[in-house]
Formats: sequence, structure tokens, C-alpha cells
Amino acid sequence: MELVARQPLGATIHGLDVAAADPALLVALLAEHGVLVLPRQSVDDAGFAAFLRRFGPLAFTPGETPLPDFPELNVVSNVGRTTPPRSSFHVDTSYVSRPPAFTALRAVAIPRVGGATQFTNQYRAHDTLPDGWRERLAGRRIRHVVTGVAPEAAGPETEADHPVLRRHPVSGRTALYLSTPARCVAVSGMSEAESRETVEFLFAHSTREDNVLRHEWSPGDVVVWDNACVLHRADHSGVDGDRIMHRGMVAGPVPVPA
Ligand code: SIN
Repeated sequence: MELVARQPLGATIHGLDVAAADPALLVALLAEHGVLVLPRQSVDDAGFAAFLRRFGPLAFTPGETPLPDFPELNVVSNVGRTTPPRSSFHVDTSYVSRPPAFTALRAVAIPRVGGATQFTNQYRAHDTLPDGWRERLAGRRIRHVVTGVAPEAAGPETEADHPVLRRHPVSGRTALYLSTPARCVAVSGMSEAESRETVEFLFAHSTREDNVLRHEWSPGDVVVWDNACVLHRADHSGVDGDRIMHRGMVAGPVPVPA
């Protein structure tokens, strides 16, 4: 096994078979690097689900499209769509009290052009905040709400308040925890206008180009990321060809403040 660290986050692990992967090691590597790229896997949906279950119980977000034979997994696909799937940086299902700890994608079809997934380093976003911001954010919580899903399809939880300075459950480091601005409707102790400005500033700061890893997909890739220290988005601009990903998520803890 060879690990190649990437900048400003992420690592590629060559020579690791997901069927034999040690979840404790991967959890520790995820806490450090945020994103793990596991190339050249020959895993099907059963193997992919089994790999994820070794991290803990799986989580499924109501409103996603389940795979018929593996309802714990969902499909992200541009096939037959007139508009591409969602593509703003976000953190998965942050509007529930226990958002998923990890998300993983298995490449099923890779387009001829485009379709990368991008990730931000939310430790670095925290560590590079301008002077005064850590103090301004200390003890505050952001209200995360569901968007893009019909209310009747959204499931029982549609909003949750989470600390904006989040202590990572494994590394103990502080990460900036927010999602796409449309999902972050209020910051505790701030007016509506102040909340909006704060969220927009933090989102722009987190998603600056120098804080983003771009993963261009290859056949056989499995990619796993840690939602406690990473935002992600699919880049659907200029995609040519079918893009099909099978996706699974692992249940997570209640986020705690730093
Ligand atoms: C997602 O937003 O969870 C999917 C990302 C992707 O399709 O690259």
C-alpha cells in the first residue's frame, strides 16, 4: 500500500483493496486527509455496501434515488436529465441532528469530458480565517435546513442547529462546519442580514480555489470523504457523456463545538 498525499487536502492510496481494507486505519486517514481516493477497485454494489458497513451503520437521505437492489445506496446520474444534478459545494444532509460521518462514491460510468468532484479543506478554512473571526464565531451555531427536496419527501428531520466551529470527532482539530448558503439560514445571536453576510463570507473563504482539491474520475475509482472536515460538489460544467456514481453514507455523531 502506498499513500500519496495531495494538496490542499486528500490522499490517494494505491494498492489497497476495499474488500480487505481496515476501517480503523481509513477512519484515521480520513480524519487527517479529509478525502481518500482508492483507485483500481473491482467492486460491485454488494462489495461497496459491505465496505461501507464496516465503518458503521449506513445512512440514507430521504428524497435520494435508491438503487433497486441496494436501497441503502443511491445513484447520482446525469442520464436522461434535462438539468444536471446539484453542484454547489455542500456537506451531506447537515439538516439532521446526526449528519452522516462519511460519504463514498463508486464510479460506475465516467463521462468522456468533465464531471470531476471537488473538495474543500475545512480545517484549513478554519486555520486561515482572518483575525477576529474565530472569536466572532466561538459558541455560535448555524441553522441548517433542507432544500431541493419536496417537504413530503424530506423525512422527519428538516432542520438542525450545528456549531460553526466543530471539533473533529477523531482528530480533535477544529473545522469550519457549514453547507451551501441556501441551507444555512441563520447564525445564532445574529440578525438575518448579519447571518447572511457571515455565511456568505465563510462559504467564499472555504471554497477559495487554493483550498480546493479536484478529483478527475477514472474507471474503478472509489472515493470516500469525511463530512466533518470537507465540503464537496460535483462539477457538472461541460460534462460530455454519461456520469453515473453509486453513493453510500455512514451514519455520524452529533457535531460538537470546538
Ligand atoms: C454528492 O454531492 O454527494 C455527489 C458528488 C458527485 O457526484 O461527485
